[in-house]
Amino acid sequence: MHNPRYLAFAIIALLFFSGKVTFAQLNAAKELAYCTEQVKKTLKVIPQQGNNIPRSIVPGSSKWKFVGYKDWCSGFWPGVLWYSYEATQSSVFLSEAKAFSSELIPLSQQPAFDHDLGFQIFNSYGNGYRLTKNPEYKKIILKTADTLATLFNPKVGTILSWPREVSGMQWPQHNTIIDNMINLEMLFWAAKNGGGKRLYDIAFSHANITMKNHFRPDYSAYHAVIYDRETGKKIKGVTHQGYADDSMWARGQSWAIYGYTMCFRETGNRAFLEFAQKVSDVYLAKLPTDGIPYWDFNDPAIPNAPKDASAAAVVASGLLELSTFVKNKAKSQKYRKAAELMLTSLSSAAYQSRNKNTAFLLHSTGHKPNGSEIDTSIIYADYYYMEALLRLEKLQKGNKLK
Ligand code: GLY
Repeated sequence: MHNPRYLAFAIIALLFFSGKVTFAQLNAAKELAYCTEQVKKTLKVIPQQGNNIPRSIVPGSSKWKFVGYKDWCSGFWPGVLWYSYEATQSSVFLSEAKAFSSELIPLSQQPAFDHDLGFQIFNSYGNGYRLTKNPEYKKIILKTADTLATLFNPKVGTILSWPREVSGMQWPQHNTIIDNMINLEMLFWAAKNGGGKRLYDIAFSHANITMKNHFRPDYSAYHAVIYDRETGKKIKGVTHQGYADDSMWARGQSWAIYGYTMCFRETGNRAFLEFAQKVSDVYLAKLPTDGIPYWDFNDPAIPNAPKDASAAAVVASGLLELSTFVKNKAKSQKYRKAAELMLTSLSSAAYQSRNKNTAFLLHSTGHKPNGSEIDTSIIYADYYYMEALLRLEKLQKGNKLK
């Protein structure tokens, strides 16, 4: 981290935030073109048999690890293909997006084995329906929303994230992880599209109870909260993927920032908007000057700890949306500028994969305590990076995000 590139970023970021310098606008269209060229290269190396959904690439390699439809990351690659279609209108991306999405159909036909159904089906079919209005896609999303709703525990008021034994979760007590916030978007969407108000109520309750129990006084998130499944009482906050129970795991906080911003969009509830700002402010206050967090803000190895570009991509996308909701001009600008700084860093040679591999980004961290996917290219970083660039492009053209 004592790299001259980071020092340069630090100086630029300081000048930027002090208002002494303004960046030339990031050229979102150019970065999107980079992404779609990388996608074309990945399409050429998809295996013809067996698992074929790209998930991650370890440092120094150029070979994707491929997974099947049950993997929690299975929706991001179809999502990247839908975003590539949105960016280019190319029929090649359209047909690949359709084909890869269709691999996920079994998730709408079988019992829930995880809360990740939103990541899987809403990133694939949610984007597919938004762009094509295919009524078959709507049916798949509605069926999957009903499946996700079966994990709701009304005594607790939240969805059971991991319906199985996971270390440290005191199974069979009820667990909820902060990542679960993202899956609420599919429930809100389904409620508006024929799925019934029950799904809205479940999503609202989950966000509300999580807001009360999942955060420390400084608004940093616990990764997981364990609840008594009969009384609904909180037992304790713990971590699974972070450095420690009390640390701020970067991607966990990114899910909170993105999740509460989305919840305000879907409900109009001002408590969610206020909360989205609180969880953003603690994250921004502790961020390194290049805008890309270390994998956990409290890892004592910092500045020699790995970074997490995926958290930066999720936050950049979330903050662009948050900037459109916040009425206070200075605060709105703060969020917009922070998102642009993150995207500028991510678009630099320090973070883009370029010819090192065919992903978009390097330097994400998946599960550090497990020793897996550390400092790698990971498909969800690419998905949110592309989403953020599409959002930035719309804002630069003066268009609305939704
Ligand atoms: N949802 C799992 C993760 O953020 O790594």
